[in-house]
Formats: sequence, C-alpha cells, structure tokens
Amino acid sequence: RRAGAPPHFITLADLTPAEIEKLVREALAFKLLLKRAGPNSVVQSLKNRSTALIFSKRSTRTRVASETSAITLGGTPMFLGSQDIQLGVNETLEDSARVISSMVDGIMARVGAHSEIETLAQYSAVPVVNALSDLYHPTQILADILTLVETYSTIKVPEEVFNEPKVHTAVRKWVHDNVDVGAALKDKKVAWVGDTNNIINEIIVTLPRLGSTVSVASPKGYDKVDPRVWERITSAGTESKIQLTNSPAEALKDADVVVTDTWISMGQEDEKAARIAAFAGYQLTNELITGSGAKPDWKFLHCLPRKQEEVNDEVFYGDRSLVFPEAENRKWTIMAVFDAYFGRWHRA
Ligand code: CP
Ligand code: NVA
Repeated sequence: RRAGAPPHFITLADLTPAEIEKLVREALAFKLLLKRAGPNSVVQSLKNRSTALIFSKRSTRTRVASETSAITLGGTPMFLGSQDIQLGVNETLEDSARVISSMVDGIMARVGAHSEIETLAQYSAVPVVNALSDLYHPTQILADILTLVETYSTIKVPEEVFNEPKVHTAVRKWVHDNVDVGAALKDKKVAWVGDTNNIINEIIVTLPRLGSTVSVASPKGYDKVDPRVWERITSAGTESKIQLTNSPAEALKDADVVVTDTWISMGQEDEKAARIAAFAGYQLTNELITGSGAKPDWKFLHCLPRKQEEVNDEVFYGDRSLVFPEAENRKWTIMAVFDAYFGRWHRA
C-alpha cells in the first residue's frame, strides 16, 4: 500500500489468517449483540458517514446486507446502480473513483472485470470494498467461514455478558476470548463440484490458510484455475492443500463440507447452453454425495442465487443444508467489514 493510502478489501488473499479470523469474530459479535441486546447495543462507527454502494450487476443479498449494515452502524448508504451512474461508460473509472471518493467515506463496488475494482481502489481516496468481481467475492467467503464456525463450535455466551453496561465491548471481548475460528476449520475437507469461478477462487486463496483442504471438481474445459489466483496460492505455499480433478466422486470422498454455485455466472448468459451440456453429471444430489463417500455428517453451502441444475431440492432444502444461515451471515460479515474499513478509518 502507498503511504497514506486507505486500506481496501479486495480479496481475502490480501489478509493474514489472523486478520480474517478477527473479522469473523467481529461479525459474530455484531450478530449476537443485535439479536440479543437490541439495536442500540452496537457502537455507531459510521455515524455521520456516507457510503457509496456501486453495483454494476444485480444483487439481492450483498445489496440488502450492505444497506442495512450501513444504517445499523449509524451511516447513510447511497445505492448507485448501473442505470444511475455508468461506471466506466461515459467517463473513466479513474475519474469516477476520484469524484465519488471525494464525497463519501467508503465505496462498496460490484464490478465485471476484476481490473475495475483494482482501478477504483487505485484512484479512490477512501477505502474500497469488493462486492464481487469476476475473479473474487471476499464478503461471501467471510460469511461462509462464520457459518462453518457456528456449525463446528459451541457458542454459548453467559447471560451476564449481555448485562454489562458496555455491552458491545463485553460481547466482543467474550467472542475474542472464546471463539476459535481456526479450530473450526482445521482439517476439514471442503469439496467443490462446479465451475472454477469467483467463489471457488476466493475459497482456495483462503480456506487452506485456515487449515482446511479443498478439492475442486470441474469438467474439462472449465477446470483451469486463473493464473492470478494460482500465483496467490503458490506464494502462500498452500498448493498441497488443494486438489484439482474432473471427478465429482473423487472430490466428494471424505468431504465434510460440500459447496457449489451456479454454472452460469453473471456475464456468461450467452454460454448457457454450452455450459449446461459440459456440466452434465455435476448436479449435486444426496445419491451422488453419499454414494461418493462423503463424511456421514456432511454439510452443504451455496452462495445463492441457486438454480436447480447444480443442486437438487433434496440437498438444497435438506437437513444438511446451511444455505439460509449462510445467506443471513452475509449481513453480519459485511457489517464487520464496514465497521473495520469504513468506520475506523480517517481521512488524512
Ligand atoms: N451471494 C451473493 O452475492 O448474492 P447476491 O448476488 O444476491 O448479492
Ligand atoms: N458466481 C456467481 C456468484 C453470484 C453471487 C456470479 O458471479 O454470478
């Protein structure tokens, strides 16, 4: 980072495991506080601050989580969709970044090419948070980690912690002292059956550093990990914790966590027919997962939105599915990111 430049949240690959774990614990503290101690229990770190939420693609979860999080923290979110401002259409991204960042305290942006978020960050005078690019989706994987921590650890906050006068401080302290994010993920096998897209990219630059192994099954022609992602993996030295295969059964064997996403990401709509044909045999069903020898208590994650073709209803709505807690956790993790990046940063 240039001296004096604001901190940006572009991919979890830029954060150390300790920094990722801290954000997840902060998110859990927000969740516990707002569910158990009420709306006035959290510190208003975005008070008198405005945030620009620039979305050049559709969004349900990320948008709702971002707008509500900014408001809960006392700030004012400004949603800017592709009909409102033409990001990179009638002026350069550099000019948009300079102008918008001169007026707001933080920018959250959902873009097409990853280079767009990098350009925004390069020219922004305020922190930029990646709300999804074609390469990475960091706020999604933070929510997935929180969901797994809740699944694999027992979180029982004593009632007296909620009666402390400085309840935000007390709950944060309890969570930081008692919740071990790394322990929940250590030695878990995560199986991905699907496209090599932004979601799995974010998973493979992150979960192996927190102690999990990841097995990625994708069909031929869709099985190349982007070199920019692989470069992050080799510099972290985590290649041995990642397996790439064309066999869903091989990936699913001994899996603790089964994950997939759409086969047709936003922007790939023209490739729909070819993709549906190429991914034949990749639909997740109980039969495929248990028949491949996944662990008896396997769990299922999906970032949503979901289509029938990649996972059937039996799995998606089944007992092992964590998809709705996972979706809700987008809110608590985005709140933690806004608090850390927009709320605790000051313009020089
Ligand atoms: N998972 C996710 O990012 O959903 P949205 O596209 O609805 O924000
Ligand atoms: N891979 C999907 C994720 C949507 C949240 C996409 O980029 O469209």
